[in-house]
Amino acid sequence: MANTYDLIVIGGGPGGYLAAERAAHAGLRTLLFEKNSLGGVCLNEGCIPSKALLNSAKTYEHALHANLYGVSCDNVRIDQSAVNARRAKVVRTLVSGVRAKMKGAGVTVVMKEATITGKTAEGFQVSADGQLYAGKRLIIATGSSAVVPGIPGVRENLGSFVLTNREVLELTEIPAELTVIGGGVIGLEMAAYYATVGSNVTVVEMLDHIAGATDREISTLLQKELEKKGVRFLLGHKCLSVEPGKVWVEDPSGQKSAVSADKVLLSIGRRANVEGLGLERIGVNFARTGITTDAQGRTNVPDVYAVGDVNGHHMLAHTAYREAEVAVNTILGKGDSMRYNANPAVIYTNPEIASVGRTEEECREKGIDYEVQKLSMRYSGRFVAENEGADGVCKILINKKKRNIIGVHMIGSYSGEIIWGAAEMIEMQLRVTDARQIIFPHPTVSEIIREVLWEFDD
Ligand code: FAD
Ligand code: NAI
Repeated sequence: MANTYDLIVIGGGPGGYLAAERAAHAGLRTLLFEKNSLGGVCLNEGCIPSKALLNSAKTYEHALHANLYGVSCDNVRIDQSAVNARRAKVVRTLVSGVRAKMKGAGVTVVMKEATITGKTAEGFQVSADGQLYAGKRLIIATGSSAVVPGIPGVRENLGSFVLTNREVLELTEIPAELTVIGGGVIGLEMAAYYATVGSNVTVVEMLDHIAGATDREISTLLQKELEKKGVRFLLGHKCLSVEPGKVWVEDPSGQKSAVSADKVLLSIGRRANVEGLGLERIGVNFARTGITTDAQGRTNVPDVYAVGDVNGHHMLAHTAYREAEVAVNTILGKGDSMRYNANPAVIYTNPEIASVGRTEEECREKGIDYEVQKLSMRYSGRFVAENEGADGVCKILINKKKRNIIGVHMIGSYSGEIIWGAAEMIEMQLRVTDARQIIFPHPTVSEIIREVLWEFDD
């Protein structure tokens, strides 16, 4: 059968396209299905467009405060349609880059929705637009979608008054009042953007803190920075209902009130795309949280793998990349395994947050005996030279007995670019005395890690 492949990948986001590219490079006849746009959520409605917007906000802020650096900059304005045009251009450029990569690697790309229909002697059967294809192996990389809860008024007003990440990234006008339901990563990045460009932003978060499992000291500092930009946080608040112009909330004492809003961003988490794929036809185990996989990305069905958001481990693009590589290496018979202990995370607000490894909260909860040291980012010469009047923190956790680095948490400029080095230290299980031998370039903000390391006893 002409339509038989060594590997079929369903979903062309970071997990899927990287798996397809790596497999094709290794000589596997590879077919990739994508029903919307290559690059998936990350490239089209997630990581990249949000960072394009946030960079416009940062540029605007720099211009507004240019006088602090001896530069005069009058009549500073932000033009949302120009910001949007640039966002769209960045996305187009990167999507065409992925298309070119697929072509270069020899991946057959079918831009259709795929459904698994069963298994025969030829392999797993996949149907798309009436055509049948067979693959000896399958990689499921169908990603995730925004959770849309049954809160009264939410579904009725979805896409018009209530927006998900998709629509909020494409707003052509800056809403005068934006209410964000959910103070996690999407909520905070978008609150930071819209507050900077002029919206009155209120974040309604049901927990007593923002940014989920982020180190609490760091997330509290971020909250203060965002408050300085005018963001109002309603912590410990439950969203009761939504109606055009209003969001009804309940505070921790049970008091109900309405928050006025021109638009509402719904950012209360994401759910794995497992429904309607036909997984049950080949017996793949899955739950609402995702497809169950092992450290090689294998599902319970031999030769079927799941990578990226759909397996529900860590909904991050770089995790999806690495899971894709591990799955393909496993298919190729090369020993490889996922480890999540040194998986960095970045929140691209201004200031940005970056973290990797254990937090103090986690150590206390799990009974890990740790030591912590921290310093203001102002110990870095470059930070002081480039961030007039700003501050930040770098905090390092080590295992008290073994003296190896187990967690690094930062807030301040360049944190997101520095954190991979900290991830490397955790991955390599470096002890404080080993890590101190690393030479850091001067002057860089990364030197703050070196400074904090010297705060520990040997
Ligand atoms: P996806 O990117 O979701 O791709 C899955 C693809 O599968 C989609 O293109 C979909 O159309 C396709 N598909 C689904 N079903 C089928 C089918 N049956 N047939 C054919 N195609 C199908 N992560 C970061 O690491 N850094 C960030 O800065 C960051 N920012 C984000 C900002 C936002 C607003 C959002 C929403 C997410 C962000 N993320 C970020 C998370 C990141 O986008 C995801 O972790 C990443 O996209 C997961 O990749 P994936 O390949 O698993 O799935
Ligand atoms: P999230 O899980 O980060 O945050 C959701 C927040 O909503 C939590 O704080 C939760 O307590 C709160 N919440 C849940 N239900 C609520 C309710 N009914 N009322 C009020 N608050 C409620 O989810 P989010 O922000 O939707 O992002 C999804 C995922 O996308 C992230 O977890 C992350 O994996 C990925 N992402 C990564 C980014 C990055 O790496 N910079 C940027 C954006 C998204």
